[in-house]
Amino acid sequence: MRRSAAGRRKPPAVIALLSAAAGPILFCSASAQVPPQLGGSPMEDVISAMTLEEKVRLLVGMGMGIDLPGVPAQDPADAATPEKVPGAAGRTHAIPRLGIPSLTLSDGPAGVRIAPVREGDAGRTYYATAFPVATLLASTWDTAVVRSVGAAIGDEAREYGVDILLAPAMNIHRNPLGGRNFEYYSEDPLVSGRIAAAFVDGVESEGVGTSIKHFVANNQEFNRMMLNTVVGERALREIYLKGFQIAVETAQPWTVMSSYNLLDGTYTSQSRELLRGVLRDEWGFDGFVMSDWFGGRDPVAQTNAGNDVLMPGTTSQTEAILAAVADGALAEAQLDENVAHVLSIVVRSPTFRHYAYKERPDLEGHALVARRAATEGMVLLKNDAGTLPLAGVHPVALFGNAGYQLIVGGSGSGDVNEAYSVSLARGLEAAGYALDAALGEGYASYLAEQEANRAAPQTLRAPPPIPEMPVEATRIQRAAGAADVAVVTLGRNSGEFEDRSTEADFDLTDTEHALLRDVARTFHAAGKKVVVVMNIAGVTEVASWRDGVDAILLAWQPGQEGGNAIADILSGKANPSGKLASTFPVAYADVPSAGTFPGKPLPGHEDDAPDAIFGIPSEVVYDEGIYVGYRYYDAFGVEPAYPFGYGLSYTDFGYGDLALSAASFEAEIRVTVTVTNVGPVAGREVVEVYVRAPDGGMDKPERELKAFAKTELLPPGGSQTLAFRLTAADLASFDADRGAWVAAAGRYTVDVGASSRDIRQGASFSLDRERTVRAAHVSLAPGASPNERKPARR
Ligand code: BGC
Repeated sequence: MRRSAAGRRKPPAVIALLSAAAGPILFCSASAQVPPQLGGSPMEDVISAMTLEEKVRLLVGMGMGIDLPGVPAQDPADAATPEKVPGAAGRTHAIPRLGIPSLTLSDGPAGVRIAPVREGDAGRTYYATAFPVATLLASTWDTAVVRSVGAAIGDEAREYGVDILLAPAMNIHRNPLGGRNFEYYSEDPLVSGRIAAAFVDGVESEGVGTSIKHFVANNQEFNRMMLNTVVGERALREIYLKGFQIAVETAQPWTVMSSYNLLDGTYTSQSRELLRGVLRDEWGFDGFVMSDWFGGRDPVAQTNAGNDVLMPGTTSQTEAILAAVADGALAEAQLDENVAHVLSIVVRSPTFRHYAYKERPDLEGHALVARRAATEGMVLLKNDAGTLPLAGVHPVALFGNAGYQLIVGGSGSGDVNEAYSVSLARGLEAAGYALDAALGEGYASYLAEQEANRAAPQTLRAPPPIPEMPVEATRIQRAAGAADVAVVTLGRNSGEFEDRSTEADFDLTDTEHALLRDVARTFHAAGKKVVVVMNIAGVTEVASWRDGVDAILLAWQPGQEGGNAIADILSGKANPSGKLASTFPVAYADVPSAGTFPGKPLPGHEDDAPDAIFGIPSEVVYDEGIYVGYRYYDAFGVEPAYPFGYGLSYTDFGYGDLALSAASFEAEIRVTVTVTNVGPVAGREVVEVYVRAPDGGMDKPERELKAFAKTELLPPGGSQTLAFRLTAADLASFDADRGAWVAAAGRYTVDVGASSRDIRQGASFSLDRERTVRAAHVSLAPGASPNERKPARR
């Protein structure tokens, strides 16, 4: 709450000094010498003492000097990031006169991204732990594990001198080809929101801030800084904003990063409806908003909209804001408001508190956190006839480039400079498996040769992929004679600036198909099994080849300890318990946004030469509305390859009767279910609670995820009762005509299951009258009418 002027404490305006010699009394104005200091004086006084130039200095950041054509100029003194942390993404300016220090901001979602070595500092290194990518973290469905990863990253950030981590990234997996999906969690907003909240809690428990990003509807990379996303208000609120809402309301992140794209014609960083109306007024956010790097077009509109800090800051932004205040186009009171948001976070920062960071984080301890999280988020997709675990199987024939060169995580700002990574080959050997040495040597020389001839990656981009090594039939034949089992890896990388393609990325290459086919044929002829390990970060085609192999482990991009974590699962040391947080469709054409992704250049711009950084003005229309992911596959009757929420275990679970606390909804319904491990080994089960809405009224998905939990490690025969709570908000959909969240009257069914298509228990309750749960403060996307599709069945 803002304090009234009358309530302010005045700084000591005048201090009387008595001369030691009892001479004449001297009066002097101390305010001229000692201005109010942040933390020592009321915030209002500090702000009133700031000059206009100082306010703008605080609101326009610094760092990340990128010397690329088209990138706006920065003051040379601002282009380099250090003061404290070389390689960090940027900083805010210090105003030393008022006791305001500079905050250091660093990426990112899979670990602290800073320079690992420093000039003139030979012998010392500043590596950070590469944790599993966000998509794997979401597949754990385990908020405690995600919190532990957040806490470890927060600890590293603080110990390296960072104040705010630019993570978590939590845009929705709208389409499998989104180049940054690896940094994001899920196709479902509840999973995204709860996992993000756990991550924020973990990081911030270490005294370091977070920046949930990219707010909002930044679901692809195509022309990302010039892309207008057209989405109806219901889909915007229920799918794209919802996860952010959950994260803000439950975890109160220190900052939010606005996105690059426009939303229905306005840059998100220039939208007051979004940044003020939704974020602050509706959700109660009280930190500061920063732009994405060089995002938005009009710094005055951004400042006016409440995009408090412009990152990384350019000379022209500073000039434009100063000029706008001078000619009355921008009120200084708006600057004061933005400055207050920033200072409210500065006072919480490690730098402000003079934290003595030691640059010696516990990397060994954090490697264990990374390994544990990785095993919790890998998903066992197929396991015929108990192929896995491999306990006692020797030796192993390991095929596939990624078996020898693990893809730890994606590229761009989501990448981490880790000290080492453990390949699957090393992980298997460390677990006691003997690998086919001749095969290993073949891959080693192929990969070395390819590396030597590989084109250097462009700034921040992934290096071009090394084509899968073709393996001749004779080598496979020899390996099938020597080994007891084949493990074949499939690898994929992606990152900032580029979306994936269907050809040779979503779909397998001919060489990959041939490898799978030939290995399976030869090993099966010898009576031996074939296991596929998918070292990928985005949803990839499986339906055309999965029948030919015996087991498939989706290992995702598992971070630096990946090889050990995969070996933990293959060997049975860990029992897989991850489940899919995004659907695997049979074919790309089945994806609800296949026809509209990634959008197209605006009329008249088709032939523009794309600017290296900004691209060309383009538009994408989200005509599937709320029918994203399983909401679409279920409502439109499209069979997926592996449904949302799916994942196998080495054991089985039984679901006891579902109990509801009441037959009729009053203030809430409590749901309890007992899960029992009915199989042979200890394991954990993710339990998913879906709700089916009454027929009639607004279109509704077949069922929607409303709660989830993961059991503890249950021994064989062990059971656990899980309890969930459903509130009226959980039953409500957004009625854009009424501008409110409304729960329809009627009969609701609670479906509890092991996946969205494996419902084990159901029960129902009624809501006797319609409830308006919450009214919106602002109307979003009023101009957008994306001609949304409706399911035929409802
Ligand atoms: C990315 C952000 C990142 C920022 C700073 C941008 O290109 O979109 O996610 O935090 O750079 O590195």
